[in-house]
Amino acid sequence: MRIPIIAGNWKMNKTNNEALQLVNELKTHVNETDVEVVICVPFTALSEVRKAIEGTKIKLGAQNIHWEDGGAYTGEISPDMLLNIGVEYVIIGHSERRQYFHESDETVNLKVKKALEKGLKPIVCVGETLEEREANKTFEVVKRQTEKALQGIKEESMEQIVIAYEPIWAIGTGKTASSGDANTVIAYIREVIQSLYNDTISEMIRIQYGGSVKASNASEIMNEADIDGALVGGASLEAEAFLGIVHF
Ligand code: PGA
Repeated sequence: MRIPIIAGNWKMNKTNNEALQLVNELKTHVNETDVEVVICVPFTALSEVRKAIEGTKIKLGAQNIHWEDGGAYTGEISPDMLLNIGVEYVIIGHSERRQYFHESDETVNLKVKKALEKGLKPIVCVGETLEEREANKTFEVVKRQTEKALQGIKEESMEQIVIAYEPIWAIGTGKTASSGDANTVIAYIREVIQSLYNDTISEMIRIQYGGSVKASNASEIMNEADIDGALVGGASLEAEAFLGIVHF
């Protein structure tokens, strides 16, 4: 049984005061659910949010890491810095990082490896652009991104990984992939993982859908056989909207 995982990706939003206010609104209501709930907050809010979620079911995630242990990398954050705060999950290879900060399949792979080595759980993002979808390249793109991200990752580490399928054209646009289409691509990603590893791993790994998920479409998406949760951007910034998804 794969336990669904709903992760909020706050992106570059929320000052510490705003973060604490949102967490306080979420806290008690999240305890009523069986799904795993993660909030991926800005680096600056991690420490405060960590304290605020103590004793609740909310888990803490970051939105990026560097692949080195430390050193002369101005502006970057190392896995140990996150672990020291009590971070459990980290988003790796979000399309905004790939698009605006030139992250490549290679650096995504380095980050996934480092996160696993250190004991952070990666949420690895894959997904096609609108152009790629229209050129019928969706499967080719997600296959390449998945294979590259997982290159050199041993079978025993796979339990720690969550994949998020996020078609780029559906992020922040209000356009969602139809739940059927999303399920087809996610089932395909599972096949790719099956051929890299085996049936046990492909049946066990959790694959989320992301892209304009909201309370009104969450249950349809979550009811698809291969979709194990959601990575939520915009709708994670407001308690009622996020709780509506958590309680799909
Ligand atoms: P969205 O973002 O829900 O605002 O479309 C999803 C994401 O980027 O993870």
